[in-house]
Amino acid sequence: MMRQMPVSWGNFSAPFLDEVSAHLRGKRVLEVFAGNGLLAKGLTERGVDIRSTSLFSGIDGHDQGMHFPVEKIEASDAVDRYGPWADALLMSWPPANEAAAKCVVRWGKDRDVIFIGEMTRPELGFAGLGGCGSDLLFANTSVHHRFLSYVGRGFLDVAVSLRMIE
Ligand SMILES: C[S@@+](CC[C@H](N)C(=O)[O-])C[C@H]1O[C@@H](n2cnc3c(N)ncnc32)[C@H](O)[C@@H]1O
Repeated sequence: MMRQMPVSWGNFSAPFLDEVSAHLRGKRVLEVFAGNGLLAKGLTERGVDIRSTSLFSGIDGHDQGMHFPVEKIEASDAVDRYGPWADALLMSWPPANEAAAKCVVRWGKDRDVIFIGEMTRPELGFAGLGGCGSDLLFANTSVHHRFLSYVGRGFLDVAVSLRMIE
């Protein structure tokens, strides 16, 4: 029988997990939009203290098995509940609506948001329309770090650290 690969939208290669875990060492991390918990598993194995949350949908592979304990809670509610505990907010492939922008507004200006996924590049017109987040998310944040070991699944797919613009 063919072994099924675990479902993940982000590309969680070992070099990337090594780089992100080094960046997050000593920090408490709140993950939203976690799906089946594959990213949290890789980071926990590398010593990151992470609380993982998500709703569950048919496109996140949760029905093929979970990889980490993920609490079922809406993302901005998770930020309200666990934000005071956390030093960094993590999201991989958030949905293409305002949910991620809402989280970032509640998260605030002073702490990192690690974003993995397609980032819209308006200068490219239709070709630059990404499948994650919203115009509001990208208009109100700026990139202050890029994870160079990340190999995107397409040219818009990146891993960066964002901060809300003052
Ligand atoms: C495209 S999947 C990404 C899963 C995983 N992070 C990955 O990279 O493979 C998006 C996930 O976010 C969840 N989700 C969508 N809207 C949400 C919301 N408002 N609050 C919490 N989770 C949500 C979906 O159910 C799904 O698990």
